[in-house]
Formats: sequence, structure tokens, C-alpha cells
Amino acid sequence: MTESVTAVECVDLTYRFGEHRAVDGVSLAVRPGEVFGLLGPNGAGKTTAIRLIVTLLPVQQGAVRVFGVDVRRDPLRARRMLGYVPQQLSADPALTGLENVALFARLYDVPRRERRRRVAEVLDKVGLAPHAGRLAATYSGGMVRRLELAQALVNRPRLLVLDEPTIGLDPVARDEVWDHIGGLVATEGTTVLVTTHYMEEADQHCDRVALMHLGRLRATGTPGELRAAEGEGATLEDVFRRWAGTHLGAETGEDFRAIRSTRRAASGRG
Ligand SMILES: Nc1ncnc2c1ncn2[C@@H]1O[C@H](COP(=O)(O)OP(=O)(O)OP(=O)(O)O)[C@@H](O)[C@H]1O
Ligand SMILES: [Mg+2]
Repeated sequence: MTESVTAVECVDLTYRFGEHRAVDGVSLAVRPGEVFGLLGPNGAGKTTAIRLIVTLLPVQQGAVRVFGVDVRRDPLRARRMLGYVPQQLSADPALTGLENVALFARLYDVPRRERRRRVAEVLDKVGLAPHAGRLAATYSGGMVRRLELAQALVNRPRLLVLDEPTIGLDPVARDEVWDHIGGLVATEGTTVLVTTHYMEEADQHCDRVALMHLGRLRATGTPGELRAAEGEGATLEDVFRRWAGTHLGAETGEDFRAIRSTRRAASGRG
């Protein structure tokens, strides 16, 4: 397979929960080696789109290809190429950091003789080697997110899919998560598809972004292109507000708390 194959291709992707179109005719192409941000307010359809891409929801209409592999036809082959960090907690607090990653190494079928080395390697990569023997229950929120990153990386995926990797973290922990993502792209050429509410983060860390609202993509481009199209001095947040009619700022404590409480309410949805 050549490097020119699109990393993720969605063609007219639509997904309905009953009558409700959570994803409504989405087409996008993520290039190999780029960090692509899927942005949108609560309920935009980001998680649903991500679940379709990582084969956790069945494609009802349209198509998804991961490095050329049709996820409907060959979900197992698609899965082997990707690592996924879900929006909800995926680490077990009753296990140590090392045990959590080792569990995923088994799950992903990393060859037995390679497991120990691979687990140590990814824990080191996310800066958790010194804490690997501690129960995950004792980790800070940022450490848990990095542990989940390690779980997703143990498979050495070509595509890393992260759903809200920095939600609920303090600014320092958010920066750390992004640093590790950036390092991965630089050293391994990993392609990253990430969702976030934080426009500032997307602006700073994503090569291209797509703004999603009510199941549809409203605009796609580099953060700079989208800002320039909006007008002199515009921020990505201004662009977003125009498309979504929502304020999404994470700059103030109040907004941050509001988003966190929304997150808690949403995760209770099941
Ligand atoms: N299991 C489900 N059953 C019914 N409706 C659902 C289900 N999951 C999601 N939805 C609906 O689909 C729409 C998209 O939800 P989704 O979780 O994909 O949005 P999101 O952009 O990830 O939001 P958030 O920022 O809150 O994570 C919402 O209207 C949501 O209520
Ligand atoms: Mg979501």
C-alpha cells in the first residue's frame, strides 16, 4: 500500500438512531500523517462518526475506508490498523498502569514474546514509566488520559483516533497530552483523527479541521484558512460560532466547568 492512500475516507456517511440523523451525509478525507480535528458542540455527531470509523457502529449508509480498507467489508483488517481512545474511561482503576496496557496488548494480539517490551515502550513514550507499578486509581486525570493513549498505541497503529482526549483536564495536562500526540506524529508518522470542543487547541495542534453541527460538516480546512475566510483578526471560535450559533469557549473557568458538567450529564446517557 502506498503512502498516497487516504488514511480515512468517509463518503456520504449517514447514521440514524431511529428517525434521528446523528451523522448526516458526511464526506471527509484525512491524509496520511496529518492531525485532523473534528470539532463540534455537544450532540454534533462527532462520537457517532468516530464510532463508525473505528467499526464500533455498523455503517448504515455511505462508506468508510481506513487506508483503503472498507470498514463494512473488512472490519477486522481496519481494526488492526487503528488505535482508539474513547470519550469514556477505558482504563481500569483497579489495575496498575502496566497491567492496563498489558491487557490491551493481549486484546490486540501483540505477539506474546514482544508484549513485555512493547508495553514498556509505550509507557515510556507517554511519560508513565516511573508510575507503571501504581494503581490507575491513584493517577491524575492527565495521567489516566496518557495511560489510555498508551493502551491505544501498544498496537502500533497507523491511525490513532482520539475522542475528546483533553476534556476535563487542566491546561498543563492538556498540553502534555498534545505534546505526546505531536511527538508521535513526528517520530512515527502516525495519522491522528481527534475530536475536541477546544477551538484554541484545534487551532494550535491540528493541521486541518472540520466543523460539525447537527450531523453535518459545515466547513473544512486548515485553521488558518478558516480564520482568513471569516475575516481579519477572526479566531477559530468566531468561525465556529457562525456555523453552530454556539459559544464554545474554554478560555474561562466558567465555560470549562459548564462543558465538564455537560460531559458528565452526557456520559450518564449510556
Ligand atoms: N445510543 C444513542 N441512541 C440514541 N441517540 C443517540 C445515541 N448516541 C447518540 N445519540 C444522539 O446522536 C446525536 C449525536 O451524538 P454524539 O454523541 O455523536 O455527539 P457528539 O458530537 O459526540 O457530542 P459530545 O460533544 O457531547 O460528545 C445526539 O443528538 C445524541 O443525542
Ligand atoms: Mg462525543
